[in-house]
Amino acid sequence: MVAIVSLLTGLVALSSPATSGAVRRRSITPPAGCPIPTWTVNTFNWYNGSHSLDCIHNQVDISAQGCLCGTGWCAPDPATCNGSMVNVCWTGMPNYQPWGYGPPQTLDIKFADGLTCHDQYIGYRIHDIGHGESNCGYADRGEGRIVAFYGTSDVDSSIGHMDYTLGDGHALTCDNGSSITYSGSVDFPVTCIHDADFNATCTAPVFQVPVLSYEWVS
Ligand SMILES: *[C@@H]1O[C@H](CO)[C@@H](O)[C@H](O)[C@H]1NC(C)=O
Ligand SMILES: *[C@@H]1O[C@H](CO)[C@@H](O)[C@H](O)[C@H]1NC(C)=O
Ligand SMILES: *[C@@H]1O[C@H](CO)[C@@H](O)[C@H](O)[C@H]1NC(C)=O
Ligand SMILES: *[C@@H]1O[C@H](CO)[C@@H](O)[C@H](O)[C@H]1NC(C)=O
Repeated sequence: MVAIVSLLTGLVALSSPATSGAVRRRSITPPAGCPIPTWTVNTFNWYNGSHSLDCIHNQVDISAQGCLCGTGWCAPDPATCNGSMVNVCWTGMPNYQPWGYGPPQTLDIKFADGLTCHDQYIGYRIHDIGHGESNCGYADRGEGRIVAFYGTSDVDSSIGHMDYTLGDGHALTCDNGSSITYSGSVDFPVTCIHDADFNATCTAPVFQVPVLSYEWVS
């Protein structure tokens, strides 16, 4: 359940991102008799449209009103709206692509070991793509796995950051029967292509997330 001991190497904190290329760090040596995972990200794909709804950071969107007509959106004009004028950012609004907005943000991360993360913006923090913890599928979050991605899609070329926590539910077993789990971090290059509407499609070359700390799981 709860970790009893947590040991960190002195190298965990990555304070200032490098200006180019992935910052490579060596994984820790695990305690004797314990397995250590290898985390390779084969696919990284992030779509952030210039008009994707953003109810967390964009004040214009936060205050915007739309015309909810039936199960969808009509032109946001109170004079012609045959449904009701509502805030587009209210919880539970349909499909998160109100009238006049572009497709919602999406993030897809595929690890070589089979883990696949898909996130789609749905209006609250755990889906705040590019700003930290992302949705790795709720079933898996229950196991404690966390994929946190930090980055920008505003420029063609930048450095992203990922913090990865394996989670107690995915603990590995050491020779002596103790359970152990791991975390890691990495900086990696992100390349974004912008279309004529400034919709951004961002990718990263294959990268590894080094294992930088471990925790005993009881
Ligand atoms: C409201 O009007 C639009 C056209 O302006 C129409 O497409 C839509 O079906 C109407 N919805 C309802 C609920 O009447
Ligand atoms: C790009 O953005 C425009 C404006 O929001 C939107 O209409 C269009 O669907 C987007 N295109 C793609 C390929 O996402
Ligand atoms: C997503 O795109 C919008 C519109 O271009 C931009 O303002 C915002 O900074 C982008 N988000 C991130 C995390 O880069
Ligand atoms: C297994 O070994 C680790 C050190 O390698 C130790 O901390 C842990 O308490 C041991 N577990 C058991 C059940 O002896």
